[in-house]
Amino acid sequence: MKVTVVGAGAVGATCADNIARKELATELVLLDIKEGFAEGKAQDMMQTAALLGFDTKIVGSTNDYSKTAGSDVVVITSGIPRKPGMTREELIGTNAGIVKTVCENILKHSPNAIIIVISNPMDTMTYLALTSTGIPKNRIIGMGGTLDSSRFKYQLSQHLGCSPSDLNALVVGGHGDTTMIPLISKATWNSAPVTDFLTEEQQQKIVNDTMVGGATLTKLIGTSAWYAPGAAGAALVEAIVRDEKKLFTCCVYLDGEYGQKDICLGVPVVIGKNGWEKIIDFKLNETEQAAFSKSAEAVRSMNSVLKTL
Ligand code: 2OP
Repeated sequence: MKVTVVGAGAVGATCADNIARKELATELVLLDIKEGFAEGKAQDMMQTAALLGFDTKIVGSTNDYSKTAGSDVVVITSGIPRKPGMTREELIGTNAGIVKTVCENILKHSPNAIIIVISNPMDTMTYLALTSTGIPKNRIIGMGGTLDSSRFKYQLSQHLGCSPSDLNALVVGGHGDTTMIPLISKATWNSAPVTDFLTEEQQQKIVNDTMVGGATLTKLIGTSAWYAPGAAGAALVEAIVRDEKKLFTCCVYLDGEYGQKDICLGVPVVIGKNGWEKIIDFKLNETEQAAFSKSAEAVRSMNSVLKTL
């Protein structure tokens, strides 16, 4: 398997590091526009191979897409990250041009690649990647819900005093501070509903803290987070290259599912060797469905900005 990560910033490099440590690829290409940057990070990571015991060959490239040729999976992290106080939506003007060019270059050399989009605003960048390339919808996957669900499990684990990996919990909708919907009514601790163990007040706090999870970190660190976003990207690569058929929330093209059309939004999907293979219909209650429609409205209005660029 060959995997490319575009963008050697903190998210891209962390994603690549996870891919290498788990030996998800025989060859891993890290590409960046900044001269020597990806080569340097690739070499640094390769110098951990003897210590960590992995055999993935990591190659750096300064904007030379011929090195990415024949990639099975490509993760796009390019673009500017948000600064404290900024919303993901404010990045659209700059990042749209970057993501469109990256997609064109990638497909020139890897026409069959499955593309994972991490760049923000992720829902709109996923929609742009799909509509500008016209490749089959199952091959474009936005990462947001995978990350937000992991953050949701973290918040739940803090209140329940349990292991995050004992939890099943999904965040659907958009990947924005006000558009994501942590489905607390459906979250379980092994098979017991988490709501059995939490007060209304605790539940509300968990939901709120999950929704501003990214913004909280941006404020603390001074720039956008990278460990969990990079690990979320790598988890999706793993599900594809190992054909795991695992259930994740991902931002995918909806054609009537969850009452929405012509939009990419976070829903539960099965991920395997063909990309996202199936949308799973979680029966949302009335409040959740209303929140989902509202989230779609906000993302649709952001997508409309693409036409003005
Ligand atoms: C985040 O939420 C990078 O959008 C990403 O941290």
